[in-house]
Parts: sequence; structure tokens; C-alpha cells
Amino acid sequence: MATRVLVMALLAVSAYASPSELRPHSVTPPEGCPIPTWQVNEFQWYNGSHSLDCIHNQVDINTKGCLCGHGWCEPDPATCNGTMVNVCWTGMPNYEPWGYGPLETLDIDFADGLNCHDEYIGYRIHDIGNGASNCGYADRGAGRIVAFYGSSNLESSTGHIDYTLGDGHALKCDNGSSITYSGSTDFQLSCTHDAYFNATCTAPVFEIPVLNYKWVV
Ligand SMILES: *[C@@H]1O[C@H](CO)[C@@H](O)[C@H](O)[C@H]1NC(C)=O
Ligand SMILES: *[C@@H]1O[C@H](CO)[C@@H](O)[C@H](O)[C@H]1NC(C)=O
Ligand SMILES: *[C@@H]1O[C@H](CO)[C@@H](O)[C@H](O)[C@H]1NC(C)=O
Ligand SMILES: *[C@@H]1O[C@H](CO)[C@@H](O)[C@H](O)[C@H]1NC(C)=O
Repeated sequence: MATRVLVMALLAVSAYASPSELRPHSVTPPEGCPIPTWQVNEFQWYNGSHSLDCIHNQVDINTKGCLCGHGWCEPDPATCNGTMVNVCWTGMPNYEPWGYGPLETLDIDFADGLNCHDEYIGYRIHDIGNGASNCGYADRGAGRIVAFYGSSNLESSTGHIDYTLGDGHALKCDNGSSITYSGSTDFQLSCTHDAYFNATCTAPVFEIPVLNYKWVV
């Protein structure tokens, strides 16, 4: 009995201790070089059960809608007073075609002010949950990539983020050399689903450890 209580106590301790122990510590930067801190303050992902998905959903890819003026009308070829077009056709003025629910959106906001925001804009620049997110057009040229991987289908799961600072955001060391960094982490992803299986996912505040550096010449 006493042994069992002890074992359970040890299990409880290790269950709490392991996440921080296993969390990799940041790399030590070369002497005289600054190192960034990447803390995610806010993580919000909305993935509706009827958000248009032109990458993974073959039904959506095959669906045609009635584009009438600047909006969508009932997709019946007999009554469509505009043009019947594929709903995944790029360059549409309105991205919630007839029968589709709210847009899928992703927001990753960092303590240092960086905001990454994605939403469906007529064609998928980014495949939300499967890689690079949009942290702004300026960042694209500067080489910064914040890539998110995860699923909105489970109540509780492990998400993953890879952060590449990019040569365009290189930091200056005391001796004048330029350095850039990358890092990654797993994190706890929690999703709630309403009666229609619309998913809203969040994460507690977490840090992405800086794991590697690279000289920029
Ligand atoms: C097309 O018909 C719909 C009703 O089905 C109407 O709401 C819409 O204004 C019409 N659009 C044009 C461009 O005539
Ligand atoms: C949930 O999904 C339904 C069905 O697609 C949609 O009508 C509704 O607007 C969605 N609700 C929210 C809060 O996103
Ligand atoms: C987004 O939601 C749809 C509909 O529920 C689901 O099929 C899809 O797997 C979700 N996407 C991700 C990346 O979890
Ligand atoms: C600056 O220091 C780093 C090592 O800390 C070295 O690799 C780099 O070459 C130095 N740059 C200059 C310009 O001396």
C-alpha cells in the first residue's frame, strides 16, 4: 500500500516535471551576439466544419457556385443570373460561397509585436495547420517563416511550430558580424467544437526556444 502511494506520488511528480525538463533550452549565442526571445502570447485558430478548403477537400475542389456581380447566388445553373464557376477558382471577390460557413482563420501573436494572421482569401497562399503561416508581406522578403503544424479535430493534441528568423532580420554582434536564428517546439493545443463541429483552438502562453544560429554574410 505504502509502496503504491509512493509510486503514484513519483508518477505525479514526473508528469509535472517532465515538460519543462524535456523542453530544450535555447542555444548559447556566440560571445557578443544578441539572442531573440520568441514568446507566443496568443494562439487562435478557427476552423469551421464548412470553411472552404481548396487543398484537402475534393468535394470543395469540384464544387461550382453561381457568381453574380460581387457576390454568390444560389448555385442552380437554371436560375443563375451570373456565371457558374468553380468555388476554388482564384481571384473571387467573396470567399464564402453559397453553402459555406465562416472562413478559416489563424492568429499567432508574439510578445515582441510580431503578428501572424492567415485567412482564406480566394486561393490558399498558406495551408493552415500544414506549414508556413502569414506574418506579413514584408517578412516574406526578409525570410522569416513561422510554420505551424497541428490538427483542429481533437480536443487536446500536440501542435508544433518551427521559427526561422530569416537573413533579412539578422542581428548585429558586437564585432559587427550578422547572425540569424531558428528554433522550434511542440506545444499543447486545445480545441473546442460546437454542435456543427466548428473548431476553435487555443494554446496557453508558450515560448519557442532558439535552437540554432547561422552567420549571415
Ligand atoms: C441575381 O439574382 C439574385 C436572386 O436570385 C438577386 O439577388 C441578384 O441581385 C441578381 N443579380 C444580378 C447581377 O442581377
Ligand atoms: C458553425 O457552422 C455552421 C455550419 O457550417 C455555420 O452555419 C455557423 O455559422 C458556424 N458557427 C460559428 C460560430 O462559426
Ligand atoms: C479543419 O476542419 C475540417 C472540417 O472539420 C477538417 O476536416 C480538417 O481536418 C481540419 N483541418 C485541420 C488541419 O485539422
Ligand atoms: C565575430 O565573432 C565571431 C565569433 O564570435 C566570428 O565567427 C566572426 O568571424 C567575427 N567577425 C568579425 C568581423 O571578426
